[in-house]
Amino acid sequence: MGLLERFNLLTDWLQRHQALWRQRPFTHLQLSWEQDWPALAQWLRQRSLADAEAAQLQPALLTDAPAPFAELAVEARALCSLPRWHGDLMQPLPELLHRHMPGRKWQQITRFSAVTSARMPASPQRWVDWCAGKGHLGRLLAWHSQCPVCCLEWDAALCDAGQQLSQQLQLPVQHLTADVMQLPLAQLQPEDAAVALHACGDLHRQLIEQVVAAGCAQLALSPCCYNRISAPQHQPISNAGRQAGLQLSRDELGLPLQQTATAGARERRQRDRSMAWRLACDLWQREARGIDAYLPTPSKPPGPPENLQQFCQAVANHHQLTLAAPPCWDALEQRGWRRLAEVRNLELVAGLFRRPLELWLVIERALYLQEAGYSVSLGEFCEAELTPRNLLLLATASPDQV
Ligand SMILES: C[S@@+](CC[C@H](N)C(=O)[O-])C[C@H]1O[C@@H](n2cnc3c(N)ncnc32)[C@H](O)[C@@H]1O
Repeated sequence: MGLLERFNLLTDWLQRHQALWRQRPFTHLQLSWEQDWPALAQWLRQRSLADAEAAQLQPALLTDAPAPFAELAVEARALCSLPRWHGDLMQPLPELLHRHMPGRKWQQITRFSAVTSARMPASPQRWVDWCAGKGHLGRLLAWHSQCPVCCLEWDAALCDAGQQLSQQLQLPVQHLTADVMQLPLAQLQPEDAAVALHACGDLHRQLIEQVVAAGCAQLALSPCCYNRISAPQHQPISNAGRQAGLQLSRDELGLPLQQTATAGARERRQRDRSMAWRLACDLWQREARGIDAYLPTPSKPPGPPENLQQFCQAVANHHQLTLAAPPCWDALEQRGWRRLAEVRNLELVAGLFRRPLELWLVIERALYLQEAGYSVSLGEFCEAELTPRNLLLLATASPDQV
């Protein structure tokens, strides 16, 4: 299936089912789709927090959920099937190439580099590593290809640390301290191959536009954090994207990221407690104010609070409200935990739309490159357990462009 055809199918599917993914159970006590699918809502609401946790990475595996869950899961899977790309992982590599790097990050980098090197049609004259951090990816590419690399990164300390490592390995890597959002166009050259691993929203949009403007020969991009944009709404850049008319708020752009492959047990417990308190506080403020509407809680209430009562007080102070205490704080906390289980289970429905929405966003960018004459392919550079952000967009300029 071509990119445009898949994009149109995704647009239609996402629009048709938008009631199932736009509303967030966290901020709504009842979701509008629950009236249409009461058996599914009831089934999800009686499950435990542990049940939800077990299913959150792959909600599609809940085959015994009432309709329309399984049907939507099958449709989502069909719309999102992509090739899993592989490349030769060169071993052994010098320890300096992965010094100070967590194992998971290093595996992502080795796979990204192996797939990119295997699938890029020709060795570039220069690699440009976009938002490179210490330039681990750029250094590995330089090691494999012996081609020069330019790492762009705005944090001078990361550039210095990266430059030292590159020098120790005697690799032709230059670390430039630069804000890529203010980059002079001349930084990118037509002979360059630009690479970016996990570049956030505005940063990857800027990269794609700069690649097209400079006419770079090749691009390998794995995007991330689609909601890190300065605009309040998603801004399509392709003609097809503009025509699709799918409006996405910054909050909705966060949906593909609501999936945690990496949180440890302690981190999860802390996150759950914070969420249960927020939900308990939400119940309290609705009942005490007599207004059935969500009030945002500050992401880091001052304190930090030691119990639910202190937490609720901090939220009330933040909104300059004086609210009557609930009959029993412990009972309120229990209701918060129960609501958390319901929220997490109801979120599994929107979870079916995470990957389709992510793919829609990435294809929208891919179509911009295609409209500019690039040949574009999409695949997965590693398994989702290593990082759920495993999409890789490869683009090559057509011969008459270069
Ligand atoms: C998510 S990290 C990715 C780093 C690296 N590519 C990796 O995968 O390890 C994003 C990097 O972009 C850098 N960054 C953020 N905004 C930038 C900007 N406007 N110009 C240059 N670098 C930026 C950050 O300092 C950070 O090192």
